[in-house]
Amino acid sequence: LLSECTDKLGRPLKDLRLSVIDQCNFRCTYCMPKEVFTKDFPFLSSTSRMSFDQMTFLVKSFVMLGVEKIRITGGEPLLRKGLEILIERLARLRTPEGKDIEIALTTNGSLLAAKARSLRDAGLQRVTVSLDSLDDAVFQRMNDVGFPVARVLEGIEAATAAGLSPVKVNTVVEKGVNENQILPIARYFRNTGVIVRFIEFMDVGGAASWARKSVFTSDDSRRLIESEFALQPQLTQRANETACNFDYADGAGSVGFISSVSQPFCGDCTRARVSADGKMFTCLFATGSFDLKPWLGEALAPEALARKILGHWRRRDDRYSELRGVRAQAGSKKVYPTVRMSLVGG
Ligand code: GTP
Ligand code: 5AD
Ligand code: SF4
Ligand code: SF4
Repeated sequence: LLSECTDKLGRPLKDLRLSVIDQCNFRCTYCMPKEVFTKDFPFLSSTSRMSFDQMTFLVKSFVMLGVEKIRITGGEPLLRKGLEILIERLARLRTPEGKDIEIALTTNGSLLAAKARSLRDAGLQRVTVSLDSLDDAVFQRMNDVGFPVARVLEGIEAATAAGLSPVKVNTVVEKGVNENQILPIARYFRNTGVIVRFIEFMDVGGAASWARKSVFTSDDSRRLIESEFALQPQLTQRANETACNFDYADGAGSVGFISSVSQPFCGDCTRARVSADGKMFTCLFATGSFDLKPWLGEALAPEALARKILGHWRRRDDRYSELRGVRAQAGSKKVYPTVRMSLVGG
């Protein structure tokens, strides 16, 4: 199965981003704007979400096909009750060659101070925490629920202390909103071991306010940092790495830039996404999905599901970010409606 698992553009299936819940306690303006994600929004019901048994079964199938890295996402994944139980089960899985599987998690950090230790004990290896500002007023305006930045910083510290390292921080930069936070964030995390990645504001589903002119490019972010600290490009990059990484010349650590808009990286995209209700998406910007739930039954083997996933992966030709520039007119809005970010977890 393994050797056959490449898509139409020759890309293997290496990473799985598994969403465990589509709800979130934040309403980041670029992801879940309050006006759209009201209390009447049709979120997945708890009965339509996969159980941990189903998720473990599904991950087994992906691992048979060559997946080596699982990233648990949301919405906000720490809102899913008993998540440690799922992590424990996933941590026991091995690749067909007998290697460990990397298990990471992307979180908004709001519940991390309380959970870092138990997540680590369950077998989680790394966390990535979203943090768009150190200035409390800007932070609260962006999360739009009045959540204080100090608690997220406590979460990051707890994650470092628990050994969930290297801890990464994701900063979405929106022009006119938080580009003045780039330098403070870079300064704050120098010499801490935390790797900050600055992300270009993307036209993902849910980002109703997106426009090309709101994108603060990675080049601009990098130049801003270089106005204060010398940076050296890292010479070795993982093939399917989303970020372009740099080291501080003075040895204070490293920073990365994720340039999905200005420099798309679809050519190396080995990521599949599965929503909490068991639908597989072959692109962050997909318009359609493939329902895996019918093959999750107890009577079936993970091999049967693996064959279904394989068939679907082999038909994959997605490269939305590369086509965005071709399809969009300068200054235009989003190209076409795609799946919401909070369903597929970024
Ligand atoms: P690492 O394993 O730590 O490198 O994580 P990662 O960069 O794969 O995952 P993370 O959840 O931290 O994602 C960082 C940002 O990159 C998020 O904003 C994602 O939405 C974005 N991103 C991740 N994968 C893709 C992708 O395949 N396409 C696009 N366009 N953006 C992506
Ligand atoms: N553009 C770029 N990144 C986004 N994220 C959520 N919405 C957007 C967007 N419109 C990021 C979050 C998180 C990651 C999973 O996706 O900040 O770090
Ligand atoms: Fe929630 Fe993350 Fe989306 Fe913000 S970016 S609303 S924290 S899922
Ligand atoms: Fe992969 Fe789609 Fe992102 Fe391109 S736009 S890198 S194909 S998820």
